[in-house]
Amino acid sequence: MQFDKIRGFAFDLDGVIADTARFHGQAWHQVADKVGTPWTSQLADGLKGVSRMDSLEMILKAGGHENEYSQQEKVQLATAKNDNYLRLVETLTPEDILPGMKSFLDELREKDYLLVLASASKNAPKVLKYLQLSDYFMGIVDPAALSHSKPDPEIYLRAAELLKLPPEEVAGVEDAQAGIEAINGAGELSIGIGRSLTGADVRFDSTVDVTLEKLMELK
Ligand code: BG6
Ligand code: MG
Repeated sequence: MQFDKIRGFAFDLDGVIADTARFHGQAWHQVADKVGTPWTSQLADGLKGVSRMDSLEMILKAGGHENEYSQQEKVQLATAKNDNYLRLVETLTPEDILPGMKSFLDELREKDYLLVLASASKNAPKVLKYLQLSDYFMGIVDPAALSHSKPDPEIYLRAAELLKLPPEEVAGVEDAQAGIEAINGAGELSIGIGRSLTGADVRFDSTVDVTLEKLMELK
């Protein structure tokens, strides 16, 4: 997969730009404790990139509790998780941009790449504001308007529409396996961040390693 065709980037947020994956994890851990599902690193990893209600379903299922809660109780559990998450997110400052990401975004902006956000989080506009990064993005995909969660490609196809670019001219940046599958399904260049990811066109161990120079070396 070549990089020279790429004109726009669709960024995931949690765990790619913002150090918020740990906050989602912390808040879901509390829900898991409450419903009696053992919290494992495998469960935590599997929740990355997954929408709020789908995450709750995964937690209930992992403990065999999927039939124990009414829809109303599920909404209460998800709302409690979100309230806890928002309390953690309120503490965010530009210091919480993941290492190397601010300079990568600056590099992209300087070279006139177009940027949009493709996060499953309904809290993404708020998080970007706390990080003082809202101005970098020409659009944010609205996850409430989507029919399918990652790993479905819908969110990345919508990102290409916002960029007004064909998918083959778009690169997606993700820390979640579900996200890499979504980018690949959309026919975009997949850039994975994290040691355990598979199937990405290019993979970096950590956010500090992602530079335009390294992407330009891709043949
Ligand atoms: C994704 C996170 O970006 O957003 C998931 O990786 C999270 O952990 C999902 O569940 C939905 O976020 P929110 O803020 O709408 O509950
Ligand atoms: Mg993520």
